[in-house]
Amino acid sequence: MIAALDVKVTLAEKSKLEGVSLEKIPFGRMFTDHMFIVQYENGSWQQPEIKPYQSITIDPSNAALHYGQSIFEGIKAYPTPGGEVAIFRPMDNFHRFNISAERMQMPTVPEEIFIEGMRQLIEIDKAWVPQYPDHALYIRPFMFASDDAIGVRPSEKYTFIIILSPTGPYFTAPMRIYVEEHFVRAVPGGVGYAKTAGNYAASMYPTAKARAKGYDQVLWTDALEHRYVQEIGVMNVFFIVNGKALTPSLEAGTILAGVTRNSVITVLKEMGVEVEERPIAIEELLEAYQAGQLTEVFGAGTAATISQIKELRYKETDMFFNPEDAPVASAVLNKLNAIRYGHEADTHGWMLGV
Ligand code: COI
Repeated sequence: MIAALDVKVTLAEKSKLEGVSLEKIPFGRMFTDHMFIVQYENGSWQQPEIKPYQSITIDPSNAALHYGQSIFEGIKAYPTPGGEVAIFRPMDNFHRFNISAERMQMPTVPEEIFIEGMRQLIEIDKAWVPQYPDHALYIRPFMFASDDAIGVRPSEKYTFIIILSPTGPYFTAPMRIYVEEHFVRAVPGGVGYAKTAGNYAASMYPTAKARAKGYDQVLWTDALEHRYVQEIGVMNVFFIVNGKALTPSLEAGTILAGVTRNSVITVLKEMGVEVEERPIAIEELLEAYQAGQLTEVFGAGTAATISQIKELRYKETDMFFNPEDAPVASAVLNKLNAIRYGHEADTHGWMLGV
C-alpha cells in the first residue's frame, strides 16, 4: 500500500488536448496539461505540486547544467479494456531511479513521491492516454541538481519532476546496427548501470558517426577488449541462437538493468525458451550467424518496446536478419502487449492501476 501524498494541485484553465490527434505522434514531442514537481532542500523534500505544464527558470550557474548531476526514468501507462489506465512496473523504475541517485550522489526519492505523485498526475491527465495500438502514455520522472553554484561538489538542492508524453512507437522500422569497436558507453566501475544524462550525451557522437555510415544505432562493446557486446543504442539486446535467447549479463555494472529486459526474460522463460544471461562475445555471434544458428536480434526498452534488428555490421561482415521471420521477437512482443493493454491476466503483478 502506497502512503498518501499531500499534493498542492493547480489545474490548467483549458486543456491543450482539444482538436489534437494522438495517433502516430512522434516520441517525446507533445506533453500533457500538467506536471508534478517537488524540491529537495535543507535535507528534506518540500511540498509536492501538480501544476499546469510550464517552463522552469534555471540560473546560469545551475549545477546540473555544468556537472551533470541529472538522472531520469522512462515508464509507460496503457489504456485498459475497461476504460481505465494502468502503469507498467513503476516500482521497478522507482528502485532503479534510486540506484541511479545513489551513484550520482543525489538524494533518494521516497516511494510516495515517485509512485503516488505519478499516479495522481496521470489521473488528472488520463484523457491524454492514446487509445491506439502500440501507443502509450510515456512517463518521464527526472531529477537534477538545483544549486546555483559552479564549484564541483554535490548540490544541496534538487528538483524532481514528472512529465507525461503521449507517444506512438519509438522506432518505426527495423534497424541497421554498427558494432562499435572504438568508442565505449560504459566501463566497470563507471556509471553504465545508472540512468544518467551524461550516458546519453556521450552516445551521440559515436551514433552520429554510425549514422553517417548509414546505420541507425551502435552495438556497444566492452571497453577493454571490444569483444563482449553490451547494449544497442538506448536498448538492451537479445540474440536468438539455436532457439535459445542470449542477453548480456549485468554483473559488470556496464549495462542498464532494463525493466523491459527483465520482463522479456520472464516472458521468454514462461514460453519455454531457454535464456542465458552471460558475457557474449561478438565472435561467438559471428560464428553462430555463419553456421545459420543466429536467427533473430532484437532490442528491448521502455520507449522502444521490442525493436527488430535487420542488420549487424561487424568489421567487414554484414549479418542480415529477416524481420518478417522473427517468431521469438513477435511472440514476446504479443505477450507483453497482451499484459500491458490488459488483454491477458496480469499474473506477475506488473500493472499498477491509476
Ligand atoms: C526509455 O526506453 O524509456 C529510455 O529512457 C530510452 C530513451 C528514450 C532515452
